[in-house]
Amino acid sequence: MHRRPTIDVLVTPADRHEAMQLDVRTGLSSTPKSLPPVWFYDEAGSLLFDRITRLPEYYLTRAEGAILSRRAAEIATVTGAETLVEIGSGTSEKTRFLLDAMSEAGALKTIVLLDISEEVLRDAAANLSARYDVEVHAVVDDFRDGLLKLPSNGRQLWAFLGSTIGNFTPEERAGLLVDFRTAMGPDDHLLLGTDLIKAPGRLVAAYDDSEGVTAEFNRNVLRVLNHELGAGFDPEAFEHRAVWNAEQSRMEMRLRSRAAQIVEVRELSLTVHLQDGEEILTEISCKFDPDRLRAELSAAGMDVSRKWLDDAGDFLVTLAKPGR
Ligand code: SAH
Ligand code: AVI
Repeated sequence: MHRRPTIDVLVTPADRHEAMQLDVRTGLSSTPKSLPPVWFYDEAGSLLFDRITRLPEYYLTRAEGAILSRRAAEIATVTGAETLVEIGSGTSEKTRFLLDAMSEAGALKTIVLLDISEEVLRDAAANLSARYDVEVHAVVDDFRDGLLKLPSNGRQLWAFLGSTIGNFTPEERAGLLVDFRTAMGPDDHLLLGTDLIKAPGRLVAAYDDSEGVTAEFNRNVLRVLNHELGAGFDPEAFEHRAVWNAEQSRMEMRLRSRAAQIVEVRELSLTVHLQDGEEILTEISCKFDPDRLRAELSAAGMDVSRKWLDDAGDFLVTLAKPGR
């Protein structure tokens, strides 16, 4: 008989709604207009992201999975971790490599998963509970609000995978890394997945796939705003754009208005004026340089213990620990 996962809802639907209202009012009243990527992930958005991870052009998930499968035993030994805490966990599919290795080492006691998307989190927690006979805590929260309220048990391995850290500006990342450092005990480790700078052609293809799944993922944020805030966006009135910003080493996803249009966001009493061709920035995906990442970790009080690339040198997984 398997144990049931515990579900802690730290961000209530009302809090989530309020945070979305604030983000949308701020982003759509700014010049240029923008929306933070956290609101892509309703149930449909999480399913679209899951499809993205299997696309031939989106190499990131496969590359990170290959590193984790090859290095999981080493990670379990080096960290001696008893608890795996995964932030922005999604389906936690690749995480199984780590959990299998921790379990084989006889160390695994607790799994903590944190995500804003309650449906995907519940499914992932149920799947992991069926596979591992340990405590599973699923926490619905916005990791931008800090990481101090999570259950802990023994040495912890904090996993922040998928290059989700790339969805934040250098200033925001510095804050997130300090949040990890603050939440970590002296014997804990952070396992960080980051996509590396590479030829722009491959990057653009990864964010503008031939099946149009990423385009639907991008437009999904407008559907979320329609459902949740009573907005009147016609998603088809926007073109998906994936652009390499060389100066800031980042991919940008944008939604370009196909015509001049006026959109009401009823719940916010906000009228949004868009010119023909005007773009809303919906996501940044920063691409990293390993030395710069080491410096960012160091600035947050962490030292790199080990780091690994996939065979093609596309993706980096870094294991870091609090500096002494
Ligand atoms: N770690 C998984 C999923 C990456 S997709 C992987 O490597 O494949 C990014 C995940 O982070 C989604 O599940 C999304 O719901 C979650 N997420 C994004 N912003 C978040 C936030 N501010 N707080 C909590 N979860 C967030
Ligand atoms: C979750 N995040 C790291 C993905 C990325 O690559 O920035 C989300 C994504 N956006 C478009 N495709 C995938």
